[in-house]
Amino acid sequence: MRLETERLVLRSWESRDHASLAAVLGDAEVRRFYPTVATPEQTRAQLEFSIEKQAAMGFHFGAAELRSTGQFVGLVGLGYIPEETRAAIRGQPAVEIGWQFDKAFWGQGLAPEGARAWLTYGFETLQLAEVVAFTFVGNLPSQRVMKKIGMMRDADADFEHPRLAPGHPLRSHVVYRIANPALDA
Ligand SMILES: CC(C)(COP(=O)(O)OP(=O)(O)OC[C@H]1O[C@@H](n2cnc3c(N)ncnc32)[C@H](O)[C@@H]1OP(=O)(O)O)[C@@H](O)C(=O)NCCC(=O)NCCS
Repeated sequence: MRLETERLVLRSWESRDHASLAAVLGDAEVRRFYPTVATPEQTRAQLEFSIEKQAAMGFHFGAAELRSTGQFVGLVGLGYIPEETRAAIRGQPAVEIGWQFDKAFWGQGLAPEGARAWLTYGFETLQLAEVVAFTFVGNLPSQRVMKKIGMMRDADADFEHPRLAPGHPLRSHVVYRIANPALDA
């Protein structure tokens, strides 16, 4: 898949994205609300997993690059929520939207710009009924993006992330949701 916005090209992953993605996911500031940075090997495994999911399901997040220069700026897109996490979220939603951008490009509204285009794709092309987003309660920049793209906090869906041990400082998560406006009664 390939989408274009005013400033971004959004496209499917390719194995050549490894070095650029590993630099972003290996950055301690980008990953300050994650339990760990990703090693290059973990990023390789994540990229291969995403490429397999893309082939099987049609999408699994994607690369964002600047239209003007072709420079890789981050990861954004829709993905199926892993079963264990899905089970912990009220209503057991199927699809999430997420983002991780190179910190050199933060603060320019690029994540919401890319996310809006992905949401439109999800609703108009994939005909999804709903998209959710979730993050650590203290990750305010990510929650700003959720609000900017029209998602609403569902406080009743707050959950403790099942992949983190009880007592882990990043365990408490908030959930934001948005329904497909064409299907919303
Ligand atoms: C969340 C993220 C994708 C936002 O991307 P972005 O393109 O900078 O988005 P925006 O420009 O719309 O900025 C969103 C908010 O980030 C914060 N922000 C902006 N520049 C920032 C900077 N240099 N440092 C820290 N926070 C910053 C602001 O709160 C901003 O809100 P505002 O526009 O109301 O001031 C980006 O901060 C990121 O990659 N964070 C690390 C990865 C992550 O936590 N992903 C989410 C996991 S659920």
